Amino acid sequence: MRMKSPRSLLLGLLSMIVLGFLYYSSGRLSLRGQRSLYDEQGFLLKLNGKLPLELRYKYGNLSEGACKPGYAAAKMTAIYPKFNKLAPMFLDQNFKRFSKISDYFPPFGIKSQEKIISIILSATNSYGLGEQLDSLSCRRCIIVGNGGILSNKSLGRRIDEFDVLTRLNKAPVKGYERDVGSKTTMRITYPEGAIQQAESYETESLFVLSAFKGLDFKWLRHMVFNERLQSTDGFWTSVAQNVPREPGSMRILNPYFIQEAAFRLIGLPHNSGRMGRGNIPTLGAVAITMALHNCDEVAVAGFGYNMSTPHAPLHYYEKIRMSAIKESWTHNISKEKEFLIKLVKAGVIQDLTEGICERGC
Ligand SMILES: *[C@@H]1O[C@H](CO)[C@@H](O)[C@H](O)[C@H]1NC(C)=O
Ligand SMILES: *[C@@H]1O[C@H](CO)[C@@H](O)[C@H](O)[C@H]1NC(C)=O
Ligand SMILES: *[C@@H]1O[C@H](CO)[C@@H](O)[C@H](O)[C@H]1NC(C)=O
Ligand SMILES: *[C@@H]1O[C@H](CO)[C@@H](O)[C@H](O)[C@H]1NC(C)=O
Repeated sequence: MRMKSPRSLLLGLLSMIVLGFLYYSSGRLSLRGQRSLYDEQGFLLKLNGKLPLELRYKYGNLSEGACKPGYAAAKMTAIYPKFNKLAPMFLDQNFKRFSKISDYFPPFGIKSQEKIISIILSATNSYGLGEQLDSLSCRRCIIVGNGGILSNKSLGRRIDEFDVLTRLNKAPVKGYERDVGSKTTMRITYPEGAIQQAESYETESLFVLSAFKGLDFKWLRHMVFNERLQSTDGFWTSVAQNVPREPGSMRILNPYFIQEAAFRLIGLPHNSGRMGRGNIPTLGAVAITMALHNCDEVAVAGFGYNMSTPHAPLHYYEKIRMSAIKESWTHNISKEKEFLIKLVKAGVIQDLTEGICERGC
């Protein structure tokens, strides 16, 4: 066998290096090209309400207005490929196995609260929406925010048509049915936001705690066992002393939704996973995140403020004016709004009161 000359060997080596470099840089280029299609959070930059082709095929046959199974998650994945639908609505006895929440302290996880959560969950002993709603093959959910933008739009009947109707904190129903509907599937709240008059609670809904600090679990334990709180130290305002619900109607919202909304979807400062300036999503954004994971279709109403009418009421049930909004230490309303706009623009969620895309999307 004849040996190749050292010169041709060198040439061969050189051409391999050049080819390798070209291959490598073209890979980098196309990667960079791809990255530019997405924003910092990982959402597609170009959003429109059109259905991706495969979804058009999947849902094309359904009659107009029929519930589309998996629709919200499919549209979410189309604009945000990192989306992983699997995240249960409420904590259940297996909560310690949900690794995403085990390494974070409240509000982003359950670290240091495992024992008290176990005690609460063995008393409530129920972890779903109830037999009828859990067995639906297609679930339509609406999150009713508290915005004054709900006033005088007579949306109550449309809101009541949803299967799962979520209200937040102490938003009243009685007297406002024409605008906000009469049904309540669940009321998500934290201690300071909970209804304080026992007689104002509706009788059928689930009482769902969204815990923002460790103390909130302690408060829930007192409510579940119907014990009086010794002290309200540590709460930022007065809290309910009694929640007139059976333990079986109480739930703990999966804190993963706070974590995901803050750090992934909205892009608030991570602050080493601790609560810090401007890194707590509002309860409304948390509830929407929950619905994206657990509902086939998602709608909202009563979100957003109409900034061109500063004298309009902030909430549909109070006389406080919008001009009274204060700079918030905890929330970042403008950053959160960017996230909600993406969802509406892409048709992931439907906004019945059109307050999110105030100036059109
Ligand atoms: C749509 O309906 C047609 C006729 O009923 C059927 O052949 C087709 O498989 C359906 N497509 C889907 C995606 O369900
Ligand atoms: C809603 O209508 C009532 C009665 O017409 C009126 O008094 C009230 O100011 C209206 N509220 C808003 C926010 O427009
Ligand atoms: C909200 O986010 C923006 C953009 O990241 C930042 O400039 C602003 O300071 C934040 N506001 C608060 C209250 O943290
Ligand atoms: C906001 O207020 C302006 C001025 O009154 C009005 O034209 C507009 O329709 C309002 N937008 C919404 C979403 O209610």
